[in-house]
Amino acid sequence: MTLMIAAVAAAFLGTVLSAALPASGSNKASLDKRDHVKALYIWNTGPGFNNPSSYPQETDDAWQKVELEFPIQIFDKSNTTAWISMNGIFCLDDPTGLGPSVPATSLPVGASQCNGKGCLPSTCVLPFWGDYYLPKKSEKARSVRLTYHYPSTAPQVGHHYHVGWDVCSKASQASSAAQHADCGDQGYEFQMNIFKSHPGKFYIYYFNMPDHTPGIIGAQSLPNFIQASGSSQNAAGPKKKVTCAIIDTIAGTVITGGKREDCAP
Ligand SMILES: *[C@@H]1O[C@H](CO)[C@@H](O)[C@H](O)[C@H]1NC(C)=O
Repeated sequence: MTLMIAAVAAAFLGTVLSAALPASGSNKASLDKRDHVKALYIWNTGPGFNNPSSYPQETDDAWQKVELEFPIQIFDKSNTTAWISMNGIFCLDDPTGLGPSVPATSLPVGASQCNGKGCLPSTCVLPFWGDYYLPKKSEKARSVRLTYHYPSTAPQVGHHYHVGWDVCSKASQASSAAQHADCGDQGYEFQMNIFKSHPGKFYIYYFNMPDHTPGIIGAQSLPNFIQASGSSQNAAGPKKKVTCAIIDTIAGTVITGGKREDCAP
């Protein structure tokens, strides 16, 4: 009897899990009724996904257009349509026709750069611009996702977004064969929080970053731009003790912090 219940429960759970898991490579939103959470899995890999061998290449330098629940502001531009890049970028302009978003070493990046093709739209925020990919198969669940959250039990927090990247660094895994397996400790994980009540400001948290990870932290809406000070490439990670950042396009500042509390909204 117990066994049968377990088998039925497992079958039921299997159905629920497979229904809840977004289809690989699709843009289906999975809706969690709990506390007004709506997660859009843009790209994903990990246990339970059966990505094609071409997945790391297909999603390489990829962009996804998204429609937002509230307008997001970058400098003096504001829109409910945005584009999210595999490479750690969030923009309000259409990147169609631009070259691959190979990271430049500093902002601003205009239309004449990147071999004359441009590779960064005019109005963007860059929580950590690098060159990333998702492996075909991974022991660890990795994704790029957009989560809308309205915590009804904490209305003071209000409507907000989490844009999360849990990706692999391409620098360490250049060949496409290597990109089929997980990248282990060459995985980067960072999340950008955007609050309706704090327009033009972006709160970023870096997790499990390898030491001296290079990447650009900043924003531009040409001709305006801001970038974390120090060097043109801003290293996050434990040695540098950069674990969070606030990109404030209203004040025109980028601050980085060593602990999460340094970057509280
Ligand atoms: C918002 O974005 C859409 C799509 O790129 C664009 O057509 C529209 O002009 C933008 N609106 C504003 C106010 O910038």
